[in-house]
Amino acid sequence: MTATWIFWIIPDRVTARSNRYLPRSVFIFLTFILKIIMQTTGAVSAAAQYFIELEHEHGAHNYHPLPVVLSKGQGVFLWDVDGKRYYDFLSGYSAVNQGHCHPRILAALLEQAQQLTLTSRAFHNNVLGEYEKYITEYFGYDKVLPMNTGVEGGETAIKLARRWGYRKKGVPENQAKIIFAEHNFWGRTLAAISASSDPSSYLGFGPYMPGFEQVPYNNLAALEKAFQDRHVTAFMVEPIQGEAGVVIPDKGYLAGVRELCTEYNVLLIADEIQTGLSRTGKLLACDHEQVRPDILILGKALSGGVLPVSAVLCDDEIMLNIRPGEHGSTYGGNPLACRVAIAALEVLKDERLAENAEAMGLLLREELQGIHSPHIKHVRGKGLLNAIVVQHKHTDAAWKLCLRLMENGVLAKPTHGDKIRLSPPLVIREEQVREVVSIIKKSLAVLDE
Ligand SMILES: Cc1ncc(COP(=O)(O)O)c(C=O)c1O
Repeated sequence: MTATWIFWIIPDRVTARSNRYLPRSVFIFLTFILKIIMQTTGAVSAAAQYFIELEHEHGAHNYHPLPVVLSKGQGVFLWDVDGKRYYDFLSGYSAVNQGHCHPRILAALLEQAQQLTLTSRAFHNNVLGEYEKYITEYFGYDKVLPMNTGVEGGETAIKLARRWGYRKKGVPENQAKIIFAEHNFWGRTLAAISASSDPSSYLGFGPYMPGFEQVPYNNLAALEKAFQDRHVTAFMVEPIQGEAGVVIPDKGYLAGVRELCTEYNVLLIADEIQTGLSRTGKLLACDHEQVRPDILILGKALSGGVLPVSAVLCDDEIMLNIRPGEHGSTYGGNPLACRVAIAALEVLKDERLAENAEAMGLLLREELQGIHSPHIKHVRGKGLLNAIVVQHKHTDAAWKLCLRLMENGVLAKPTHGDKIRLSPPLVIREEQVREVVSIIKKSLAVLDE
C-alpha cells in the first residue's frame, strides 16, 4: 500500500521539478512500468484507494464490493480509474444485457433529455402512451403499470394480487395470502425481506409483513398443499433463482406451477427482473416452458443499465382493480424512462440477443466444464445466466478466486459464499467467451496456493 501511495504522491513533486531531476519522457516511461507492475500484482492504486476511502467515509456500509473503482464502460468491457480494462461478468446483476453504454439507448436518452424528462403523472405526456402500447404488444398483455426499481415492481405485483383476491376471488378483506419460494430474492424493502428465508436479509428488521408464506422451491407437492388454503391469492416466483446462486428448477416445474395456479385460481406472478429480457436465451425465462404468468414483473435491463425502470404487466381483469390515487410513483412512467425502455427493448430484438445468449451460454458452460478443475464442483446455467460452484476447504475461496479474476481482467462476484455468477452482457462474442474461460482457468491456480 505504501508503495502505491509513493507512486501517486511522489510523481507530482518529481514532475514539478522534472527538468532538474528527470527528463519527462523517462518519468512517463517509469510511470507506465509502475502501472503495469501494479496491475499485474493486483495492488490498489492511490487513485482507486482515494475513491474507496471516500465511499467508506461518507457512505453507508451496506455493500462489500471488490476493490475496483470503475470509470468507463463499453459493450462487454469496463475500465477502472487507472485505465485497466476488464470483462464485466456481472452486468449490473443482469441490468446491462444490451452492453454498457449502448449507442442506440444513449441516443434515445440524450434526445429525450433535451425535450422533457419528468412531468409526474399529474399530467399526461406524449411518450408514456406510446411506450405503454409498445411494451404491452411486445409481451402480449392488456396493460402495464410503470415503476422504477425492481423491488417496487414486486410490491406493485403483490398489491395487484391482493386487490384481485378481494375483488375477484372473494377472499375476506385483509386475509389474502401470498406464497413465495424459499431462497427467493426480490429486493430489500420491508415487504421483500418479509418474504425472505435469508437471515442476513430479514434479521433485526421486524416486525414483518403478514400474509406471506414460503414453500420449498422446485416442489410442486408443497405448492399444491399450500394452495388448499382458499385465502391464497398468488404465488410469486423467479423462473430461475438468480441471487440464490442460479438455481434452475427441474424441467416441467414452471409448467406444473402454471397448471396448479390455474386449477386453484391462484395468480402466478413471475419475477423476471433478473431472468427476463433475453438473459436466459429466450425473451422470458417462462418461455422455455411456454408459460404465461398472470402478472409479469420486469426491471433491470428494461433500460439497458441506464436508468431505474421497472414494469408490471397483466390483463385488465387484474390491473383495473387499482383506480386513480391507489398506486403510483413520481418517476414511474416518466418520458425519459419510457424512451430509454423502448430503445432497450428494440435492441434486444434487433440484435437477436436472446439467440446470442443461448449460443454463448452453451459455449461458456461447455468450455468451463472442459477445464476439469477439482475446484469447480458444478457449472450450471441457462443462456448467459450461469454460475460455478466452488469446491474448497476454505469458505472464502470464491472471494479469493474473484480477486484473482479481477487481477486478471474479469469482474465477477460470489453469491452465497461458494457460488460465482457468470453473466456477461448478451453482446459477448465467441472469442471473448473463450478468452474469459482461459482467464478463469489461469485464475483457479490461486486456490492451490
Ligand atoms: C429476481 C429479482 N427481483 C427483484 C430484484 C430487485 O430489483 P432492484 O434491486 O432493482 O430493486 C432483484 C435484484 O437483484 C432480483 O434479482
